Amino acid sequence: MPSEHLSGLATRSSCSSLPRGLISPSRRHEQGSFAIGDSGLLVLQDYGWVDLGFRFAQPYWGKGLATEVASAWVRTAFDELGVSRLGAFVHPENVASIHVLEKVGFRAERHEMVMGMDSIVFSLDVKTSKGSH
Ligand SMILES: CC(C)(COP(=O)(O)OP(=O)(O)OC[C@H]1O[C@@H](n2cnc3c(N)ncnc32)[C@H](O)[C@@H]1OP(=O)(O)O)[C@@H](O)C(=O)NCCC(=O)NCCS
Repeated sequence: MPSEHLSGLATRSSCSSLPRGLISPSRRHEQGSFAIGDSGLLVLQDYGWVDLGFRFAQPYWGKGLATEVASAWVRTAFDELGVSRLGAFVHPENVASIHVLEKVGFRAERHEMVMGMDSIVFSLDVKTSKGSH
């Protein structure tokens, strides 16, 4: 993957929580905008993939927002940033996240400890993604 395309992405070598924080989806309110979650792409150098992550505050679950942002990040990664493959990791009990990843085309690859968490590692290849549309 061309490194210049990734210069705008955050990198991290290790992380105990999920401070993705590249983009915070927000809602307008009469007192201004406020963040309702965050999502983004991070280069996980220790693991060797560009990671897609998303999370929302509980009042905003079940409204299709994670699917919407995940799908937007997939398009941005493949169409604008020149990324050829994305990864994502999810705790096996996080059924909603697994469902979101599968809806946008990710497939489960393997179980692995990622950042100390028992995880299912998912991936999506640009060719598979384009082929599915
Ligand atoms: C996981 C999370 C991001 C999902 O966000 P969301 O905006 O509610 O997701 P969406 O509404 O786009 O889609 C959720 C899908 O999972 C399904 N789902 C939710 N809970 C489910 C469950 N327990 N079992 C099966 N399916 C479930 C929903 O029905 C929906 O699928 P559908 O559109 O086919 O009906 C949100 O719950 C969250 O932020 N959780 C806490 C943080 C987290 O786990 N982040 C993920 C780290 S990778």
